Amino acid sequence: MSPVLVISRNPQVVGLVQQAWGPDGYAIAPEQFPDNVQVLLAHLQGAPLPAVAVLDPADQVVAALALAVDLDRNFSIASVLVSDQPTEVSLDAMRAGVRDIVAPTSPVEEMKTALERAATHSGPRVAQQPATGVPSAAAQRGKVVTVASPKGGVGKTTVSTNLAVGLAQRLPQSTVLVDLDVHFGDVASGLNITAEFTLPDMAHGPAAQDALALKTYLYLHQTGLYVVPGSESPAAADTVTSRDITNLLDTLATQFKYVVVDTAPGLSEHTLAVLDQTDILVLVTSLDVPGVRGLRKELDTLRDIGLLLESRSVVLNFMHPSRGISVADVEASIARKVDFQIPQSNSVPISVNQGIPLLQSGSRDPVAKQLRALVDSIDNHEKAGNKGRRFLDFGHRKEAQQ
Ligand SMILES: Nc1ncnc2c1ncn2[C@@H]1O[C@H](COP(=O)(O)OP(=O)(O)OP(=O)(O)O)[C@@H](O)[C@H]1O
Ligand SMILES: [Mg+2]
Repeated sequence: MSPVLVISRNPQVVGLVQQAWGPDGYAIAPEQFPDNVQVLLAHLQGAPLPAVAVLDPADQVVAALALAVDLDRNFSIASVLVSDQPTEVSLDAMRAGVRDIVAPTSPVEEMKTALERAATHSGPRVAQQPATGVPSAAAQRGKVVTVASPKGGVGKTTVSTNLAVGLAQRLPQSTVLVDLDVHFGDVASGLNITAEFTLPDMAHGPAAQDALALKTYLYLHQTGLYVVPGSESPAAADTVTSRDITNLLDTLATQFKYVVVDTAPGLSEHTLAVLDQTDILVLVTSLDVPGVRGLRKELDTLRDIGLLLESRSVVLNFMHPSRGISVADVEASIARKVDFQIPQSNSVPISVNQGIPLLQSGSRDPVAKQLRALVDSIDNHEKAGNKGRRFLDFGHRKEAQQ
C-alpha cells in the first residue's frame, strides 16, 4: 500500500490514522503548519511524498488548505482534513480540493473509509518540486514594493504599473499590483481593465478571510500580472481601513513574490499603513523645486518616524534640460543620489491614454529603458537575497514620534 502522511500535533489523530491505514506511513508534528509542498518536503527529510495526506491543522486551517491546493494541483495527492467543526470549514475545504473531513475523535472505520476513498483520487505524482518555479503559496514571504511621493501627478502610477508589468513579464504569476491610491486610484485605466471586483470587495468579506478566496477576486491582466483595482467610488473607498490594508498586503505577500503598491500623494493614514508593510520603497519626484522640496521633507519625516527603509530608490521624473534645475541640484537638496532619471516624453501620456504600459508594448524609448532598469534593480535586489529592513510597527512609530 502507498504511504500515508499525517501532519498533526495530536498523538490521538496519529494513532487513529495508523490503525486505519497500517504501518506504511509517517507522521510529522511541525509547530507551523506547512502551507506548501516545498516547506513540507523540508520536513520530510528525503522521505517520498505520500499517496494521501491527512491534515490536522488545529487552528492553522488557512495554511492546511493552501497545502491541500498545492498537493492536489501540482502533485495529484489527495488530502483528508481533520476538524471538529466540519460544517464551518467544508466550503473552503471543498474549494481547496480536500476529499473528506474527519473528526479527531471519529471511529477507525470512518477514517479508513475516508483514506481509501481519498487514495482512489490520488494520481501519479508529477514531480518532487512544484510545477511552476513560482512560490505556489508562500515558500517565503514576498516583497512589498511601494511607489510613493509627497506630491501628486509626479508619475507614481506610471512607475508602479510599468514596474509591476515588468516584474510579471520576467516571472509570470509572480506579481500583484495593488491600487492603494484609495480614493482616486487610476491603475485600472492605466492597464485598460474593467474589473468585476475592486479594492473594497477584497478588503472585506470572504476574500479578506483567506488567501485562496482572495486569489479568485484578483484581476488577471493579459501580461500575467494580477491586479487589485482601486475602488470605483470614493464613498466605497471610505469603507477600507488601514487595518484592512495591512491584512490585504500581508495575505498577498504569502501568495506572490512581488506585491507592487501604488499610493496616493502624501502620507495619509492609509499610506502609512502601506509603508509599515513595505520592504522596498520607490520614491518618485518631478524635476521642479516644489517636488524636490516635498521629497526632502518626506525623507526627513519618514526618518523621524522610523519608516525610512534602507532598501529605497529615488526616481526623478519629467527630466528635461530646460527645467532650470539639474540632477546635481536635486541630489544636493535631498542629500542622497538619484537612482533613475526618467525623461519627459510624449510616449508616457500616449501609453496611459491607450491603457498599454510602455513595458507591455515592448517600447525601446528612453523612458522604457529607465523603467526596465528599475525592474532590474528590484529583481536583482531580490535575487541577491536582500531582506530590506522591516518597518517598525505602529506602536514603535508612536514611540519614535514622542
Ligand atoms: N516622463 C513623463 N513624461 C511625460 N508625461 C508623463 C511622464 N510621467 C508621467 N507623465 C504624465 O503625467 C501624468 C501624471 O502621471 P501619473 O498618473 O503617473 O502620476 P501620479 O503621481 O500617479 O499622479 P497622482 O498623484 O494624481 O496619482 C499622466 O498624465 C502621465 O501620462
Ligand atoms: Mg497615481
